[in-house]
Amino acid sequence: MTDAYEIVIDKIQESKISTTDFDNLTFGKTFTDHMLECTWRDGKWETAVIKPYGPIMVEPSCKVFHYGQAIFEGMKAFKDATGDVFLFRPEDNWIRFNESAKRLAMPEVPKEVFVEGLKALVNLDKEWVRYGEGLSLYLRPFMIASENGVAAAPSTEYKFMIVMSPAFAYYKGDVRVIIASDFSRAADGGVGYAKAAGNYAASFYPNNLALAEGYQQIIWTDAASHEYLEEAGTMNIFVRIGDTLLTAPNNDRILNGVTRRSVLQLAADAGVTIEERRISVKELNEAANNGSLKEIFGSGTAAVIVPIKGYKHKDFKFELPQLEDSYAQRFKEALKDIQYNRADDQHGWRVKI
Ligand code: COI
Repeated sequence: MTDAYEIVIDKIQESKISTTDFDNLTFGKTFTDHMLECTWRDGKWETAVIKPYGPIMVEPSCKVFHYGQAIFEGMKAFKDATGDVFLFRPEDNWIRFNESAKRLAMPEVPKEVFVEGLKALVNLDKEWVRYGEGLSLYLRPFMIASENGVAAAPSTEYKFMIVMSPAFAYYKGDVRVIIASDFSRAADGGVGYAKAAGNYAASFYPNNLALAEGYQQIIWTDAASHEYLEEAGTMNIFVRIGDTLLTAPNNDRILNGVTRRSVLQLAADAGVTIEERRISVKELNEAANNGSLKEIFGSGTAAVIVPIKGYKHKDFKFELPQLEDSYAQRFKEALKDIQYNRADDQHGWRVKI
């Protein structure tokens, strides 16, 4: 016998959408009218409840505050020109969420709660999904340890929640990066592949140092040697040398990005030569010096596809050339065409609400 999972709408909130300036959105600052909350207690998931967006009650001893037992996902919903609303590859995020849950000793969330909960919540707040170039509704499913008590052991109670925020661009302006040569994001056997909240917290200090030098992000390198490119925290990283598209292979230090996988598929569809292999900083710098380094770009749900304008590694600085036909631009357009239902969905990525 399988468990039956229920999603109920507890209370409908009068909409605050008329106070939202969709032309001036700051990423992740405005939230829609409703959220979803589902509690795991006594070894099972209770009824998922959709209710007005607002504060939740937790005690100061709540485990998430002390041990950071917290994971999340980043996803988006899009509206097409006719007003239909779509989720983009929701099952992939659900699968990755449960991989993160397993690594953080948290319970897995059933698809009926995660995917059906997203659909119900987006459907209720679908006025918040706007059609327009670059506009989307950013979806943030997350889970926190909600048991009270400061013993360093996994929680016996969890909250799975979804909140949603109308989004435009994650990065405003040019993005330049520092390639890490001392700090590390993840180590072998660690939690780098999981969307663990602490992975992001740990990057804030080095990222602040980079920002102070005028660089918006860090491309992390492997912790053991700092010789190989890994990912950028908010994005996976692609490099174009000549006409070959390169990206680091997935491992337990790198997030298995849904946008990364989409770019690889679009590149394969376009007949581009792809190499998923380790890329050394030495190789990158040599390609920069001999003129074969054409592009570096990042891919992520929030960031979409972001060209990197320049990078610094120790004392070496390089500005990427401006290209007429950049892969970043080409794959960004192809991705958006699928997301906004302007192109055939050959791979079954759109899920209509
Ligand atoms: C996303 O792209 O959705 C992420 O989770 C990255 C986050 C730091 C905004």
